[in-house]
Amino acid sequence: MSPRWSDHFTRRARAEGWGARSVFKLEEIQRRTRIVRPGDVVLDLGCFPGSWSRFLIQAGVRRLVGVDLQVPQGIQGIFLAADALTVEPSVIRDALDGPADLVLSDMAPSTTGHRLGDHVRQVALARRALTLAAALLRPSGRFVVKVFEGEEAPGFVRDVRERFEEVRRLRPEATRRHSIEFFVVARGYRARVPDP
Ligand SMILES: C[S@@+](CC[C@H](N)C(=O)[O-])C[C@H]1O[C@@H](n2cnc3c(N)ncnc32)[C@H](O)[C@@H]1O
Repeated sequence: MSPRWSDHFTRRARAEGWGARSVFKLEEIQRRTRIVRPGDVVLDLGCFPGSWSRFLIQAGVRRLVGVDLQVPQGIQGIFLAADALTVEPSVIRDALDGPADLVLSDMAPSTTGHRLGDHVRQVALARRALTLAAALLRPSGRFVVKVFEGEEAPGFVRDVRERFEEVRRLRPEATRRHSIEFFVVARGYRARVPDP
């Protein structure tokens, strides 16, 4: 993808009022996998500034809970200002008012340009998302998680495969050309595997 193409996504996100170009990654994931279903109860981890949450509401989810260090404004849903690394799963479960059908994580740390350090900190967030998904998903539930490529990524993807029936990796078009991120899209949560 050329830099001009990636600018195209930034301009389009602004023109369409999404709040972030990240929305086009979820839009493509949805187009290719149909992972979001109308009526879903959804947890959106790393939801700020809210483009994924807006997309999920438009997709017809029934209940949306978002978690981030900052809360997005003007979106229908329940948003918790919390650190996903330390928040009690019971706090999120209460907000969901039952098990989730789908857990998404677009969480990423502020990057420093130090590739290994950024990778390690990001995979810690992805692992936490897996732990929260294991605590909060219904059996057969679905999971989407952003991962930074690096030495811990294959082990993480293996751990996702142990917990879900069907797992695929995707790198959406809207991903910046030099970005090391990809997404894992999983369905068929196996509720009985011990916690990661
Ligand atoms: C790429 S942005 C998410 C964009 C969002 N999906 C959207 O479409 O608007 C990554 C988010 O992860 C959040 N984040 C990073 N570390 C976090 C943590 N420990 N707990 C909760 N959120 C975290 C950041 O605050 C940031 O808003």
